[in-house]
Amino acid sequence: MEKILNLRRLDDIRRNLRFANSDRTKSTEDQVHVEMTVYKKFEDLHSRLLLKSNAPELHKELHKFFLLDCLSRLPSAYESLDASRPWLCYWILHPLSLMGVRVDDVTKSMIAQFLRKCQSPDGGFGGGPGQYAHLAPTYAAVCALVIVGTHEAYRIIDRQKLYAFLMSVKQSDGSFAMHNGGEVDIRGVYCALSVASLTGILTTELVRDTAEWIISCQTYEGGFSGCPGLEAHGGYAFCGLAALVILNKGHLCDNQALMRWIVQKQMRVEGGFQGRTNKLVDSCYSFWQGGGFPLLYTLLAKDDLAPHDHLFDERALQEYILICCQHAQGGMVDKPGKPRDVYHTCYTISGLSVAQHFLEEKHVLGTYKNELAKTHPLYNIRPDLVRKSLLYFHSLEKFQSFSSYGST
Ligand code: FPP
Ligand code: ZN
Repeated sequence: MEKILNLRRLDDIRRNLRFANSDRTKSTEDQVHVEMTVYKKFEDLHSRLLLKSNAPELHKELHKFFLLDCLSRLPSAYESLDASRPWLCYWILHPLSLMGVRVDDVTKSMIAQFLRKCQSPDGGFGGGPGQYAHLAPTYAAVCALVIVGTHEAYRIIDRQKLYAFLMSVKQSDGSFAMHNGGEVDIRGVYCALSVASLTGILTTELVRDTAEWIISCQTYEGGFSGCPGLEAHGGYAFCGLAALVILNKGHLCDNQALMRWIVQKQMRVEGGFQGRTNKLVDSCYSFWQGGGFPLLYTLLAKDDLAPHDHLFDERALQEYILICCQHAQGGMVDKPGKPRDVYHTCYTISGLSVAQHFLEEKHVLGTYKNELAKTHPLYNIRPDLVRKSLLYFHSLEKFQSFSSYGST
């Protein structure tokens, strides 16, 4: 069965290939080049499939070794990512958890203690020890601590000070600055609302006017931009939609337009997603764009507007990831020929999990060995780990919280 479906995809690809013409620009040339590279990968795999009668395989062991090796180098970290060290923890721990890899207790404690050092004395987390608090590493640190999932890890988060930090970056129009005096964009809203709802400190005051500000970022194309009036982009679309759903206000944006926009971001040849109109496929959008579908399907079903077809071609996305994005030595790449890194490994494996599980009946391309755990549609953390931490934080002293997903 897998073989028949794969062969049909090869035909689809061939029919859809674009060819350079006399009106070509740098962008169209790049697009033609990526399509040809992807097509060759598929063609190569098909000729091997005919011989071996085998389906594409997720090289879990190789990815595990790549991620564990990066984890062992965390204390020294990469110089260029010195301000993203909580991100490194999350980008490594999350794909490991989706692949069912257990991290030992000593390593868990080492990560928790490292993140403790990143917490600012005034609340929130910085990009490394002694750095100023910033919403992006705050989100990454809280997610990483939730994945570590021990009481030692949970206790590190100072909720009173975290709340004070969130309020200090809240703007009068409902938006959030990424850090004190820093830039305002929709990532800030998502980071603030995620950590507040995960730790049970989401108050009415914290989110006053926030839903209206998010809605003002939905563009004429249907996606969300970083700030009102700018270009719609997959990263921002996920942030906007997930933040609205955390507020239980997902119905306030134009869901049909958003659905249309995301559907059109899936590339007809490559099977993966682009982040914005007329740009190239990139595996990290497997999650930023693909991750919008579970949220949208739930919203559309609530309004009795469930789409009749699968608007998301989850098979094509799995093919792109498995055939074109696995680095030979483990880890994932953005597109063929690019270097591997933990960011793309995290969001590609997250997108693969969404593609496998977003329908009620799971749909795993290849053998059962390719199956990943489900990821939570709002936080991109395994749902059992979200539940466990919510139970912990909600057993602590009360804050008023109204996350629609908060008690699932
Ligand atoms: C464009 O990069 C990228 C952006 C405009 C922002 C991307 C935002 C995210 C990925 C969301 C981050 C979320 C959190 C929670 C912090 P580009 O021009 O290099 O890529 P492109 O050509 O694919 O658009
Ligand atoms: Zn990318």
